[in-house]
Amino acid sequence: MALHGISRIILGVPNVETTGEYYEAFGLAPLGEHRFGTVEGGHQLTLVETPKRQLKEICIGADAAEDLLAIGERLVRLDAPLRLESDALHTAEPVSGTAISVRIAPRIEQRAAAAPRLNLPGRYARPNERIDAFYRTGPVKPRKLGHVVLGSSNAKVTRAFFIDGLGFKASDTVNGVGTFMRCSTEHHNVFLLESNVDFMHHTGWQVEDVDEVGRGATHMIKRNGETHVWGLGRHYIGSNFFWYLQDPAGNFVEYYADMDHIEEHFGWVEGIQKTGLGWGLKPPHTFTNPMDLAGFEG
Ligand SMILES: [Fe+2]
Repeated sequence: MALHGISRIILGVPNVETTGEYYEAFGLAPLGEHRFGTVEGGHQLTLVETPKRQLKEICIGADAAEDLLAIGERLVRLDAPLRLESDALHTAEPVSGTAISVRIAPRIEQRAAAAPRLNLPGRYARPNERIDAFYRTGPVKPRKLGHVVLGSSNAKVTRAFFIDGLGFKASDTVNGVGTFMRCSTEHHNVFLLESNVDFMHHTGWQVEDVDEVGRGATHMIKRNGETHVWGLGRHYIGSNFFWYLQDPAGNFVEYYADMDHIEEHFGWVEGIQKTGLGWGLKPPHTFTNPMDLAGFEG
């Protein structure tokens, strides 16, 4: 696959300082000038000041110059704006106008996590020991930014832009709700929501395992109880454990772990799904109807 994941986003917020402190507490490394990094993805978030929260740009990683040329040819056929440089392509998602750049970048190398040692009935991987999660005393640090969720008022056009233009693949679709799309081996890198407002719903940050999901969210909720939104739960689509929080600008932000991994040669077939929830409580009304988006109907 020519593309290999989301490299970075630029997020506009009205309160850059407060939002920056939030993402630092969330576990991102401050890199100066309102830029933040993950353990394995490096610089993955830049905050800029805007009157209202707004996703300004998504930067996607590609392998080589020929990938940019191929994407450029497809975007021309879609009448999308296009500016080509030697190592990057700049365009815009046609419905929201969000800037999209595709840049030649090294793939994110992930250190293999230690195999979980779980005691299961009749299968005891951890005799005479407590779970190692109790010995993790440092702050939770996301491995990488995995996905971005976008609401589009013309999801058909946005879907065509990502799939027919950029070369994303559809992993699963929920009729009347949206499409999960990937540009890497993860189940989704962009989830496109059918909406009546163009907006960014949430970002998803990969952590080691479900213990890190719990540790991270607990830390953030102890810091400020109002940040809690929805979790712990497990999505049916993508299989990931999740816990959603809300940043001071109103964007939802997710710790996730154990997402489906799709290798091309296994031939994942796009499914039409009926539900997005494996287990967990129903999401709160504000999750599907963000309060700052007047008239939004999720
Ligand atoms: Fe998510």
